[in-house]
Amino acid sequence: MTDLQFNRHRRLRTSDNLRSMVKETWLRKEDLIYPLFVVEGSNVHSEVASMPGVFHISLDYVEAEVQEIVDLGIKSIILFGVPAEKDALGSQAYHDHGIVQEATRLIKEKFPELVIIADTCLCQYTDHGHCGIVEEGKILNDPTLDLLARTAVSQARAGADIIAPSNMMDGFVAAIRRGLDEAGFVDVPIMSYAVKYSSSFYGPFRDAAHSTPQFGDRKTYQMDPANRMEALREAASDVEEGADFLIVKPALSYLDIMREVKDNFLLPVVAYNVSGEYSMIKAAAQNGWINEQEIVMEKLISMKRAGADLIITYFAKDVAKMLS
Ligand code: PBG
Repeated sequence: MTDLQFNRHRRLRTSDNLRSMVKETWLRKEDLIYPLFVVEGSNVHSEVASMPGVFHISLDYVEAEVQEIVDLGIKSIILFGVPAEKDALGSQAYHDHGIVQEATRLIKEKFPELVIIADTCLCQYTDHGHCGIVEEGKILNDPTLDLLARTAVSQARAGADIIAPSNMMDGFVAAIRRGLDEAGFVDVPIMSYAVKYSSSFYGPFRDAAHSTPQFGDRKTYQMDPANRMEALREAASDVEEGADFLIVKPALSYLDIMREVKDNFLLPVVAYNVSGEYSMIKAAAQNGWINEQEIVMEKLISMKRAGADLIITYFAKDVAKMLS
């Protein structure tokens, strides 16, 4: 054995302190963005069946909820609205008194420092559940852009700090940037869902947001999970059109893409740790099959290692507690 030549990697793993000194990736509270589902009506605080620990809340519960989030040291939330009324053109999305606009105004007034991100999409607001205008079974690209720009401007007017368009129409960043600039919101950044795959991991969210398409699927606008070059083209377009952040979504099955987006562009990369990724962990944990806390930390650190600067996650409150 004495003439055996090898490296002693274990030398750097001998104690907690030493391990923390050579740790390459850190998770911070500043990395976390917490999604919040706001619904119309009052006295609503109901758990989403497929997402244990995630609630639909009406405006009267918003202040207490956001207080808890802020007290935990979380710096940012992303708002999703569940409107009482839907129509073909998703008009509640761009109504100045829509649920997201009302929630934004209320939160901004009480918590001016919290960074409010508004998800800008139509699918929760359309009666057909698609993310754009539908004609003869087709999802129309260009006419939808105008509605997205109107939605973004109305969200910014209500006080949203960041606009996050998620609907995957071509040109949505350009259209929204122009809309915001013309309305005087030159300083409101766009966090674009640049790379968004057509994924079954969104299932629980669609329960939560009541946004399942009533016919067909989203494959003509969201991406094929098999594609990598296309992800880079999508991201490149959004950068050219003026995006300020690039979201990769979902996160866990797409860590390779996250790394490539990080290496190819000079913008902050955001991982969206989506609903299915959340619910799978919750379900396994409820069965006692895994250690939830350890798995959550391992998953989130893997996103950061893959290049994510920020993480949108339903685990944000749990993680903030663990980091305290
Ligand atoms: C809306 C939207 C979706 C998600 C975020 N914004 C659903 C979809 O595209 O069907 C999914 C989020 C999640 O699963 O956590 N377009």
